Amino acid sequence: MYPVPSFPAPKGSIIDSHAHFNDKKFDSFRDELLLKMHDLGVSKIINCGCDFETIDECVALSNNYDFCYTSVGFHPENVPDSEIDFERFRNIIKNNKKIVAIGETGLDYYWRDDNKSAQKAAFHTQLEISKEFDLPVIIHDRDAHGDTLEILKEHKPKGVVHCFSGSLEMAKEVINLGMYIGIGGVLTFKNSIKLKEVAREIPLTKILLETDAPYMAPEPFRGKINHSALIIYVAEKLAEIKNLSVQEVLEATSKNTEILFKF
Ligand code: NI
Repeated sequence: MYPVPSFPAPKGSIIDSHAHFNDKKFDSFRDELLLKMHDLGVSKIINCGCDFETIDECVALSNNYDFCYTSVGFHPENVPDSEIDFERFRNIIKNNKKIVAIGETGLDYYWRDDNKSAQKAAFHTQLEISKEFDLPVIIHDRDAHGDTLEILKEHKPKGVVHCFSGSLEMAKEVINLGMYIGIGGVLTFKNSIKLKEVAREIPLTKILLETDAPYMAPEPFRGKINHSALIIYVAEKLAEIKNLSVQEVLEATSKNTEILFKF
């Protein structure tokens, strides 16, 4: 089962800029949980597809739930050894009005570093497609900060580096490109010293809140199933770090998300 926050957020105040409600971990209670979202304060959720199969699942969710939107991408972990059918990919975007972003796309040298050139090629193509459709990008960067930043500087896309794990210096470079920093449950973890420094030093106008549900549940639910309503705990931590109210944090970050994804 899933944890429920002991104090729900005010109605409509939470937007989850990055989730995977299509994940199998939700299979036995997905609808039950999604139907509760409104009462728990959540007004919009972006589910991110990572390959053709999960893209279809996310599109189906956005067809069934008016508050669900879709981002479509090939996650670096899902980049196949064979070529990706990007014409099929473009057709999916053309035929779905609730697709608001490209991603997640990017580089992940933690899981695999023997196919760096294939990961980079797929990343470049998706950044080009984001320009073709005038859509922002949702970037995944794990253990690949240097190469990710280099490619972002080349393309200068609109978008967000999700689950940001870089240094303050990198965060400033990302912001200088006009992009946003995605922050989730990690902010509440005791050992997340670097991310807390980033959160403290960068302006609130450049931060988006996210879950990466079902993963990355914030404290006090670390290790459990994550979902959008638990963003209240990330907002609380960010409010504490920035010396603001939770309400101010939720209002500002939700507004940032609506500006970027134009929904
Ligand atoms: Ni994700």
